[in-house]
Amino acid sequence: MRLTSSLLILGLLTGSAARAQSRPDSTAHGVTDVGLARGTTTRAGRVPEGRRKAVFSEAWRFNAGSDAVFGAHAMVASDAPLASAAGVEILKKGGNAVDAAVAVGFALAVAYPEAGNLGGGGYMVIHMADGRSGALDYREIAPLAATRDMYLDSTGTLTKNSVVGPLASGVPGAVAGLTAALKKYGTMSLAQVMAPAIRYAEQGVVVDSAFASSVRGSRPLIAQFAGASLFLPNGAPPAVGSTITQPQLARTLRAIAARGRDAFYTGPIAEAWTSELRKAGGIITMADLAGYQPVWRAPVRSTYRGYTLLTMPPSSSGGVTITETLNILEGYRSLPPFGSTRWAHLLGSAYQRAFIDRNEKLADPAFVPVPIAQLTDKRYAAKLRATIGTTRATPTTTLGGAPREGMQTTHYSVVDRRGNAVATTTTLNNLYGSGVYLSSAGFFLNDEMDDFAAQPGKPNMFGLVQGEANAIQPGKRMLSAMSPTVVLDRRGKLLLVAGSRGGPRIITSTSQVILNVLDYRMTLADAMAAPRLHHQALPDSLTIERDGVTPAVADSLRAMGYGVASGRGIGLVNAVMRVKGGYEGMSDPRSSGQPIGY
Ligand code: GLY
Repeated sequence: MRLTSSLLILGLLTGSAARAQSRPDSTAHGVTDVGLARGTTTRAGRVPEGRRKAVFSEAWRFNAGSDAVFGAHAMVASDAPLASAAGVEILKKGGNAVDAAVAVGFALAVAYPEAGNLGGGGYMVIHMADGRSGALDYREIAPLAATRDMYLDSTGTLTKNSVVGPLASGVPGAVAGLTAALKKYGTMSLAQVMAPAIRYAEQGVVVDSAFASSVRGSRPLIAQFAGASLFLPNGAPPAVGSTITQPQLARTLRAIAARGRDAFYTGPIAEAWTSELRKAGGIITMADLAGYQPVWRAPVRSTYRGYTLLTMPPSSSGGVTITETLNILEGYRSLPPFGSTRWAHLLGSAYQRAFIDRNEKLADPAFVPVPIAQLTDKRYAAKLRATIGTTRATPTTTLGGAPREGMQTTHYSVVDRRGNAVATTTTLNNLYGSGVYLSSAGFFLNDEMDDFAAQPGKPNMFGLVQGEANAIQPGKRMLSAMSPTVVLDRRGKLLLVAGSRGGPRIITSTSQVILNVLDYRMTLADAMAAPRLHHQALPDSLTIERDGVTPAVADSLRAMGYGVASGRGIGLVNAVMRVKGGYEGMSDPRSSGQPIGY
């Protein structure tokens, strides 16, 4: 663990983006505000064919009409510029979108350790230009020693142990998932796609203000565990412009690159980190690791106004909940004007109904029968639509359902020159997961156990109230909201790749970007900048981004019976859209992410 100020970076601080871009690949570069390698071009002011500029409420913080990044051949959009650069490096070397996605996944574990990970899990939806598609579930599972009431104290009160500390972690799936994706769809070796991540870990990553601020925000958590010596040198976040190297993580990555998933799940590295965890009070064993398997599933395939969506089935609730919501909305001939009272009412009501089902009925299909066919049926959606009135909000309690979830997570979207597309969402749950940092192997462990209903019927970290189906059982996957999604146009050609971070808001933010593109014909930049709303059934309130609608619209919604809450950011999306002549890429303007194309 070393942290050094870097004269090289001081040079970059004053250097132009073009100079940073010309730096050789072997240099750790790409950070946002200290010499970003913005390998990016836009087509200033050009509205792609078939799109129209959006109109937002006057007070809204983003202007309509900004530009997305354009690439004639390929695009990677992620929350970390260095990770996007890793993907593009692999694409330029001839790798396909899956090779690049795996490179981005490992690079995020180094350059975006707050959510990118080896100690977490995720979901990947892949659509290949030859028509093959797959959904890879590499969600964490509850350790064999987990029990239903493990997070309740002797009085039956929920403790914080599902969120912070050594008991909060599920068995990590990330390494098994990334290696499985590469094996099935990739064209390059693990060593080739992991080279950028290993280089970042060994040579160092320059600390930008976004990272320093994320560490500052999580200081109380990080300070409790072994990651403090690396991420809080002298008790404070590393200085912007300094370089952070992660030699222990580099050793782990090198071992995985040489020996594949086994290096992480069996053998000396696994022994070292499980024994470190056990000494701290954790329960993940070598048997848990040896038994971990990612699962290939058929994507949830649905249609919306003639477009096709390929999205994530359970153990994530994302794809089913998005499909159910869009099926409800499809029954309206067109959606009301963007930002109007009726827009908020119809979207809010559709989400409310889909979340009731999500919270009660969805869970790991290996443990609970999950009614996917029913919930994604358009006739079922029609029945739900019939319960939406024109003048009044419907209280969630009268609709029958009621059940909680983590906020941080990270999503990336990749498209290559052949039109192969990968949507990946991965997480530690909270930023820096459980806070537990395993010095023996160089990574943070997740706090994904909090995505179970630790106390069915009571709210979790996100206020989500979930049912019995998602109760803790050994070996079970906790329900997720992650929603990696690929949208095909009416001719079956790739149109959009999207997904988000944000706990349950993943579902609402991802689907609203899709609606903005499909219904409102917005440009990708406008679709991402547009204000968002969120309804998750319980708490029974409609959250709208601050200044996202006019005061008159907010008043009308209150008059209809909505509890209207104001939110400061709903989800952080990374998306890629096919446009004439290539691809547009866009990271959420609410984030420090960066699309890079060429
Ligand atoms: N931990 C957030 C999710 O899986 O939805």
